[in-house]
Amino acid sequence: MDAMETIRHRRSVRTFDGSDLRGEDAKKIMEYANTVTNPYNIPVKWKLLNAKEDELTTPVIVGTNTFIAGKIGAVPHAEEAFGYSFERVLLYADSINIGTTWIAGTMNRPAFEAAAGLKEGEIMPAVSPLGYPAKKMSLRESAMRKGIKADSRLKPDRLFFDETFETAFDMNGDSWISDLFEMIRWAPSAVNKQPWRIVKCGKEFHFYEKRDKGYIDNTGFDLQKVDIGIAMSHFTLGLNEQGQSAELLLTNPAICTPQDTFYVATYRL
Ligand SMILES: Cc1cc2nc3c(=O)[nH]c(=O)nc-3n(C[C@H](O)[C@H](O)[C@H](O)COP(=O)(O)O)c2cc1C
Repeated sequence: MDAMETIRHRRSVRTFDGSDLRGEDAKKIMEYANTVTNPYNIPVKWKLLNAKEDELTTPVIVGTNTFIAGKIGAVPHAEEAFGYSFERVLLYADSINIGTTWIAGTMNRPAFEAAAGLKEGEIMPAVSPLGYPAKKMSLRESAMRKGIKADSRLKPDRLFFDETFETAFDMNGDSWISDLFEMIRWAPSAVNKQPWRIVKCGKEFHFYEKRDKGYIDNTGFDLQKVDIGIAMSHFTLGLNEQGQSAELLLTNPAICTPQDTFYVATYRL
């Protein structure tokens, strides 16, 4: 798949055409999902669910019965690892014209978790419907997209920085890095908050979370760290396409941070 093309083409699909996901497409997605890794080497287990059989409901999705659930151990960095891996699966699905939407909130969670066979010590941060997009969005979907401004993103100078948080990264300069940042900018995030902030220092790209209120639950699980994992996934996808790779480091560079902004990880080219 062409990374930039897939990233720009992908959008959350909430209205499907009513047909069942074909067996061969389900097989392709599961085969792909089982090859996906993440930089934290935390395994994700995948399961296809049937909404009709298991009485699964999500108020925002219409026209498909198939969902994919991902389960991961409740260990440190599970959020970023999950975000990284699940996003790869959803981008792959998009590349073969199968619609998806990250769903972390709008579902009857206990029923989904039971159907996914969630065990003690595991979490299921999100699920996604899988199906063929309908020609027209439902009114509810259009209204929802407008409400969360799903077709737009923050300007690059709010997200990407050079050496310190004081200087916005010059998107007109080194073009391949601007392309990489653009791939991150269009990533999906919970309520389209785009909590990723990146400071480039030479060959190092420091990833930070700009934390909003209300995304950490009483177990300490932080949904916005899933978003950071998604941003990391887009970053390495873009890098790999350039024939480059980067190693993950977890050493806080102690750069002065704005309020509510927390260090997550670094990629070094
Ligand atoms: C971690 C995460 C959780 C999300 N949870 C939901 C959800 O519960 N329900 C929903 O309708 N959309 C959910 N979304 C989809 C976002 O609203 C969507 O990605 C964002 O508005 C950008 O729109 P786009 O995906 O069409 O580009 C979630 C996205 C992410 C990344």
